[in-house]
Amino acid sequence: MNRILICNGHIVDPANQVDSIQNLLICGGKIAQIGERIEVEADRVIDAEGLIVTPGLIDMHVHLREPGFEHKETIKSGTRAAAAGGFTSVACMANTQPVADSPEVIRFIRSQAEKSGVANVFPIGSITKNLTGEEVTDVPALLEAGAVALSDDGKTVMNAALMREVLAWSAQLGFPVAVHCEEHNLNAGTVMNLGETSNRLNLPGSPNAAEDIIAARDIMLAELTGGHLHVLHVSTAGTVELVRWGKRRGVHVTAEATPHHFTLTEAAVEEHGANAKMHPPLRTEADVRAVVDGLIDGTLDAIATDHAPHAPFEKAQGMDDAPPGIVGSETCVPLVFTKLIGSGRLRLSEAIAKMTCTPAKILNIDRGTLSIGAAADVTLIDPKREVKVDPAQFESKGRNTPFRGWALRSCPVMTIRGGEVTHSVLNDG
Ligand code: DOR
Ligand code: ZN
Repeated sequence: MNRILICNGHIVDPANQVDSIQNLLICGGKIAQIGERIEVEADRVIDAEGLIVTPGLIDMHVHLREPGFEHKETIKSGTRAAAAGGFTSVACMANTQPVADSPEVIRFIRSQAEKSGVANVFPIGSITKNLTGEEVTDVPALLEAGAVALSDDGKTVMNAALMREVLAWSAQLGFPVAVHCEEHNLNAGTVMNLGETSNRLNLPGSPNAAEDIIAARDIMLAELTGGHLHVLHVSTAGTVELVRWGKRRGVHVTAEATPHHFTLTEAAVEEHGANAKMHPPLRTEADVRAVVDGLIDGTLDAIATDHAPHAPFEKAQGMDDAPPGIVGSETCVPLVFTKLIGSGRLRLSEAIAKMTCTPAKILNIDRGTLSIGAAADVTLIDPKREVKVDPAQFESKGRNTPFRGWALRSCPVMTIRGGEVTHSVLNDG
């Protein structure tokens, strides 16, 4: 049986309250042992001194684009990007072509992932058929086929009665309903945040209220039904406050923040144009501060990238016409470490929990820990390694990032999935 011994790493396994220098033994694709002294003959010994060793990271919000938009990304390239970013598991959104609104598409994604993926792929089915917001999908059939959540991400389900219906299914069958909160009529035709920058650039902007109105509605519907609401990519101070309010009331609501929303403001649009265009948009300093505060106090449970690759020619169409979204898999860990941990705002173990056991719990997947007997999904991070973001080096097909040229500190140096190395920049890798 293949044995890998990872020596002297700083093991951070929040689910098991481990946060100390230890050795980790992987045997036959499973976590076999953690301890200060492990005496076995291993096939491979990895010196992890100075490195952080975590459960394989989980990105609960990516767009893999397959089927249908393979010119933007494929399951192969998207999971390679994930592995390069330290992720061993991703949950992929339903806005493919065809939409993941049937058991067949869910099964196709799973089988493609088996064939060409280098990360565990957990498909998300759509809430409404063909993402039109008109009719709820066959919920039990999608779950049966392997969907871990339902979401119309990219679009808001505008009909509150349909949201009530799917949240009632959630209460009955126990899965998360992940919502994109942007009131469609307020949002239509907008390309950035409504504010000082949009006024100056004379671009149509979307107000914070577009997000807050839907977040408030859906939290109320989660309370009404008892369903599990997961609020995707929170971008406004108001939505942070609404999620906090919902949690205080005992509503089953979880939420995530993206690296771009906790790092950048609307000012990035001036410098990066369409590479800083996404939905929901980058907001103001006050919103960024509120998102960071929400991560610190636990209002925002998870960190997820919303990795949204688009082809260079599509992003070259300019602010008005370029599709929204930026890539995120390969810049997430450096941004989390530099902006949240390095700045002293978030404790290391809390940040790791938001990318491991917490998303696993939200999605009800058996991942995100280094428990003995668990699948050997492990990420090694060098917290001191300096990186300069160079999109040309991305494994993703997408190059659409506003972080081009940023100098960041820390980087995933080895990713192990089920005992197999899926990415490594270590000399002995
Ligand atoms: O900016 C975005 N891009 N937001 C979304 O919700 C969808 C995503 C995409 O699919 O490109
Ligand atoms: Zn998304």
